[in-house]
Amino acid sequence: MYKTAFNKVSVVGLGYIGLPTAAVIASRGVEVVGVDVSQHAVDTINQGKIHIVEPDLDMLVQSAVTTGKLRATIEPEPADVFLIAVPTPFSEGFKPDVSYIETAVKKIAPVLQKGNLVILESTSPVGTTEKISEWMSEIRADLSFPHQNSEQADIHVAHCPERVLPGYVIQELVTNDRVIGGLTPQCAEKAKDLYQLFVKANCIVTDARTAEMAKLTENSFRDVNIAFANELSIVCDKLNINVWELINLANRHPRVNILKPGPGVGGHCIAVDPWFIVDSCPDEARLIRTAREVNDSKPEFVINKIRKVAEAFKQPKIALLGLAFKADIDDLRESPAVDIAQKVIQEKLGDVLIVEPHIKELPDKLQAGHVKLVSLVDSFAAANVIVTLTDHSAFKQVKPSILHEKVIIDARGIWE
Ligand SMILES: NC(=O)c1ccc[n+]([C@@H]2O[C@H](COP(=O)([O-])OP(=O)(O)OC[C@H]3O[C@@H](n4cnc5c(N)ncnc54)[C@H](O)[C@@H]3O)[C@@H](O)[C@H]2O)c1
Repeated sequence: MYKTAFNKVSVVGLGYIGLPTAAVIASRGVEVVGVDVSQHAVDTINQGKIHIVEPDLDMLVQSAVTTGKLRATIEPEPADVFLIAVPTPFSEGFKPDVSYIETAVKKIAPVLQKGNLVILESTSPVGTTEKISEWMSEIRADLSFPHQNSEQADIHVAHCPERVLPGYVIQELVTNDRVIGGLTPQCAEKAKDLYQLFVKANCIVTDARTAEMAKLTENSFRDVNIAFANELSIVCDKLNINVWELINLANRHPRVNILKPGPGVGGHCIAVDPWFIVDSCPDEARLIRTAREVNDSKPEFVINKIRKVAEAFKQPKIALLGLAFKADIDDLRESPAVDIAQKVIQEKLGDVLIVEPHIKELPDKLQAGHVKLVSLVDSFAAANVIVTLTDHSAFKQVKPSILHEKVIIDARGIWE
């Protein structure tokens, strides 16, 4: 049992971030009430089960629910801390959609009490933490908020972005450093007290805007570096240079470390968050915008290669290896591999054999007449064109010499 000033924590949004966070806090002996708009999520959790895939989460949730430390509900109730982990996608024109945050905050405002701490964990455009303070004050004129009278406010508000890696969430929630941005220094210190309950790494305080920008910067840094590699692959193709050999050679320089090119950038973080910076500073964030455009153009480059190769066959049989957006996971969200597969199917470039060892059936949008989900071995037996789209470990183990009669488009550089 840990000694803490927080007796009851409410986690709003029980998805990939909220549920593990709720379970870890509950495992420290604190009462946790999870709030979600999904009745299915609430019912599943209250049975001690989970509705998402994350290693070790099932045991943690089961134990927290059994010991009475964790329960879920649709309607918010009073607590000492409210931790918000709802989605922040982008809408038409790559505009950040903070409506989930606004709805969540307006729902908790009526149950707020003097002394409460509200923490925004969702990845958010700069200025959102201040906005949530304003939204709450519109509903609770009887309370004071940090954007109004600074240190004396009744409610404390902070932003603490999440940077866990899916598949390692339970471990990284405890071992990753946390950046904690308060609307005031006091808000930051109060939030730090909460995180120190379960974080073994450094909890570093700053202001809310810097914390918001820190998260967006991390993912934009990755995106820009991947875009450099992807642009190199397109340039090298035109100049008839093997990009994989080129990058290996350039990386011999002691201060050069070029990433690997691929078929594009997927997932719901790196492909999304840089747009939040571009939206805030459209004239200034030129490099960040261009990186997004370069990465978003890469699937079309791969499709073009497939078109050209397929033309040479009377009966093209195209094996697409991998649908997930990165290696060794089953997550197909925003995956460029799925977009490429969809285009190849729509354009009827040939019979399509999809190999994705991490799923049991194809997503609806890839269900069509001449498309099959097959094993790696079966794809090699049948295909005359092989395209690598995800660098799953199972694919890396293949010796390319066994594929000498096939045309290979190695968009991931697995066999280079
Ligand atoms: N998943 C990751 O790996 C990851 C990593 C870092 C940051 N993030 C960020 O964390 C935030 C949450 O992401 P996630 O992956 O957990 O999303 P998710 O879609 O898995 O879960 C969000 C949950 O919030 C619920 N919800 C939506 N509106 C609600 C409301 N008004 N009140 C209560 N619940 C509501 C949904 O039903 C869902 O269960 C996002 O901003 C995301 O960008 C995610």
